[in-house]
Amino acid sequence: MHSFGHRFSTLITLSGFLLVLSCSLASLTDIFNSPSVHAHAEVLKINRFRKQLNGNDEVTLTLNMSMDLRSTFTWNTKQVFVFVAAEYETPKNSLNQISLWDHIIPNKDQAKFETQIACKYPFIDQGSNLRGKKIKLVLHWYVMPKTGRTIADMMVMSDISLPQTYT
Ligand SMILES: *[C@@H]1O[C@H](CO)[C@@H](O)[C@H](O)[C@H]1NC(C)=O
Repeated sequence: MHSFGHRFSTLITLSGFLLVLSCSLASLTDIFNSPSVHAHAEVLKINRFRKQLNGNDEVTLTLNMSMDLRSTFTWNTKQVFVFVAAEYETPKNSLNQISLWDHIIPNKDQAKFETQIACKYPFIDQGSNLRGKKIKLVLHWYVMPKTGRTIADMMVMSDISLPQTYT
């Protein structure tokens, strides 16, 4: 004898199972989708390069960037968050990482673009280490899925050297 309540709970269990199954499949396809991201950056202009009154170096850059993150999008991708960081070594820290720009890519159609930007955030060193400094411009991205775990990855967009003198 099957009561209504019994059938109802069978239905719940089955749909719960299907939900778990489809979430696992979604995460699995993300694991097997190894994206090939292309990205490039170059410095168009050093707008200002100076030592602040407190002794910290400050530089403002205009960058020309192009990136193609279309391969990070699957049917399970909600959005992709990207940020560009200036990364460099100083005697005090083996990694200094300063975010210069960030952006949310809402869909695959907007995942390939070229842009010329003055950095959104100031590039300020904790000290005066920036003259002649070699800097890596690194693209970091976070693929945020509809279900499953966020996947983080990164690539070096370019290696630049800052000028030897302030402007
Ligand atoms: C920006 O870079 C692209 C190549 O990635 C190049 O085709 C374009 O001319 C550059 N734009 C400027 C303003 O330098």
